[in-house]
Amino acid sequence: MTRILVLHGPNLNLLGTREPGVYGRHTLEDINQSLIDFVANKSVELRFQQSNHEGDMVDAIHVGRNWADGLLFNPGAFTHYSYALRDAVTAVALPTVEVHLSNIHAREEFRHHSVIAAVCLGQISGFGWRSYQLGLQALLDYLNDSKKAPYSK
Ligand code: DQA
Repeated sequence: MTRILVLHGPNLNLLGTREPGVYGRHTLEDINQSLIDFVANKSVELRFQQSNHEGDMVDAIHVGRNWADGLLFNPGAFTHYSYALRDAVTAVALPTVEVHLSNIHAREEFRHHSVIAAVCLGQISGFGWRSYQLGLQALLDYLNDSKKAPYSK
């Protein structure tokens, strides 16, 4: 069983009605359900958490250390300035994939930089709700590969 913490940051609870031209019309529940459906026939357990508060997100990452194998993380606006969240990811040493609905590199200048991406396996940005699915697939592949000998199929 592979256990993944899916952590959503601030304002993502408003998905569905929040700037639909940028973030789409899927609600956070829709996105979580799409991930549940995606792992339906896999030996994967997902736990979901959303918070608008940086400290609560740090706490969620710390709790994840005790049970999760990986972290699928949309830090929202904290992406661009939260050293506390970056340090939390480093501290727990959970393989992490950063995801964004929008293409942060095509938006305002302040969104171009992520202070968290450098401590993640990688970043997926710009595919709407599918960014989460792509990120989860990448994370599961990574975790699966890490159990095998190098280059084995
Ligand atoms: C976001 C991008 C961030 O810049 C923004 O602050 C968000 C959502 C995204 O998923 O596209 O809240 O993380």
